[in-house]
Amino acid sequence: MQLFIDTANLDEIKAVSKWGVVSGVTTNPSLMAKETGADFKTTIQTICSYIDGPVSAEVISLKAKEMVKEGEKISKWHENVVIKIPTTEDGLEAIYQLSQKDIATNATLIFSANQALMVAQAGATYASPFIGRIDDMGQDGMAVLAEIMDIMDVYGFETQIISASIRHTRHVTDSALVGADIATIPYKVLKQMIRHPLTDAGIEKFMQDWAKK
Ligand code: G3P
Repeated sequence: MQLFIDTANLDEIKAVSKWGVVSGVTTNPSLMAKETGADFKTTIQTICSYIDGPVSAEVISLKAKEMVKEGEKISKWHENVVIKIPTTEDGLEAIYQLSQKDIATNATLIFSANQALMVAQAGATYASPFIGRIDDMGQDGMAVLAEIMDIMDVYGFETQIISASIRHTRHVTDSALVGADIATIPYKVLKQMIRHPLTDAGIEKFMQDWAKK
């Protein structure tokens, strides 16, 4: 399972780019709005200069025609840009049209297996089920992800599934266990994934013992 970072914060992206484990970035309008400074285009292009992999940038139009127009414009910013499209009827139309033009798409805000099935049929390059938000509704996000992975495997869809809206480290492990292609992970959770109190305690003990030598 590939690891992406879910943020528009340039400092966070720069920091993880040095670890050699993050192969893509996902953003959304909420994440983008939290960052001050550079405009949308400059931010996306800077992200692309830090991480050599897919970088999702979301359209803000809601009608298919405008989504396609906006997607075509954003796709010219960098060859690694992926156009993030909300999963609606208009979104399906936009995903289909963009796929016909060989523009990569990431169908976002997926909450059910049927939505994933439909965006895969429309030709989405990526599909992003929002695990944490499904859990927030009192339902089982990981069960929905598992259903999606089964469907993708049985029918051989090429759409890659991004486990998104990840809230904690267990979500990452479980996403890998059900075979998600990618998990997009907040910076805080990526940092938590490498930490273990026994590793810290082990290092401290090694240093103490070495000092006694
Ligand atoms: O990648 C999806 C993510 O940005 C949404 O996360 O925590 O707002 O549900 P969250």
